[in-house]
Amino acid sequence: MNHVIADLHASQIAYWNGAGGDHWVRRQELTDQVLAPVAEVVLARAAARPGEHVIDIGCGCGATTLVLADAVQPGGALVAADVSEPMLARARRRIGDRSGVAYVCADATTHGFAPGWADLLFSRFGVMFFGDPVAAFANMRQGLRPGGRTVFACWRKPAENPWMMLPLQAAYLHVPKLPKQEPDDPGPFSFGDPDRVRRILGAAGFTQVALEPVDLMLDLASGRGLDAAVAYTLDIGATSRALDGVSDALRAEAAGAIHDALSPHADGGRVPLAGAIWIVTATA
Ligand SMILES: C[S@@+](CC[C@H](N)C(=O)[O-])C[C@H]1O[C@@H](n2cnc3c(N)ncnc32)[C@H](O)[C@@H]1O
Repeated sequence: MNHVIADLHASQIAYWNGAGGDHWVRRQELTDQVLAPVAEVVLARAAARPGEHVIDIGCGCGATTLVLADAVQPGGALVAADVSEPMLARARRRIGDRSGVAYVCADATTHGFAPGWADLLFSRFGVMFFGDPVAAFANMRQGLRPGGRTVFACWRKPAENPWMMLPLQAAYLHVPKLPKQEPDDPGPFSFGDPDRVRRILGAAGFTQVALEPVDLMLDLASGRGLDAAVAYTLDIGATSRALDGVSDALRAEAAGAIHDALSPHADGGRVPLAGAIWIVTATA
């Protein structure tokens, strides 16, 4: 890894152990509800079965880990891996000492997973933050048995994800834009380009790489109304990053602009906006 990439990677780890991790822990319940449609589709595609060994990469606060832990019983086992101490601690509190679940607080790009142990390498949005994704996936592949599968969800391009871009553009009416990112820089949209994902997985030694586009509606309010949706967007993802450290006055103005941008989408208690993901599958 050259030093620019190493710095990007290190800043991701710092973010998930700092402001990013704190935001996710605070908003865990709501985030699980907003992202439930993603969990449903990616867990169904992964189809974890009793007796299987599974690694949940970047498991965060444990929403998918909980479901996988049940799906592999009886007889299976699960490794919940994340580099964020606060998020993994939340996962551990929620899931407890359920049989067959081990927690690993580590950088998945370099962690020594037990070679050939897993049948399934799974992730919901936990694999887009690596400085060197080829090395990362090659490392994680070592944890899979030959013929084992990887199934993960990642975001498609920003323009296809108004659930994140609409509030962000509204916030930008009042706060400075985030530093421009190159499309390949680690971040939520770094796996948006399907050719890049195929190249990464191929170079990391995976075969039968397939990407399926799935379009979803994400209710930013989780049924709790427009103000809840505004509060949620202020605290999560790119919008929260753009607002980190700004004055209360600017934050209030940004909140007003987000309110105006979201209000045409309000439908009773719901505020549904479009989200676009890839379900990526490949074989070790
Ligand atoms: C967008 S969150 C998704 C969390 C969870 N999978 C979910 O869907 O709720 C991304 C997760 O990836 C984790 N992550 C980022 N870089 C990582 C790395 N190098 N090794 C392990 N986990 C990492 C973060 O700490 C965070 O928990």
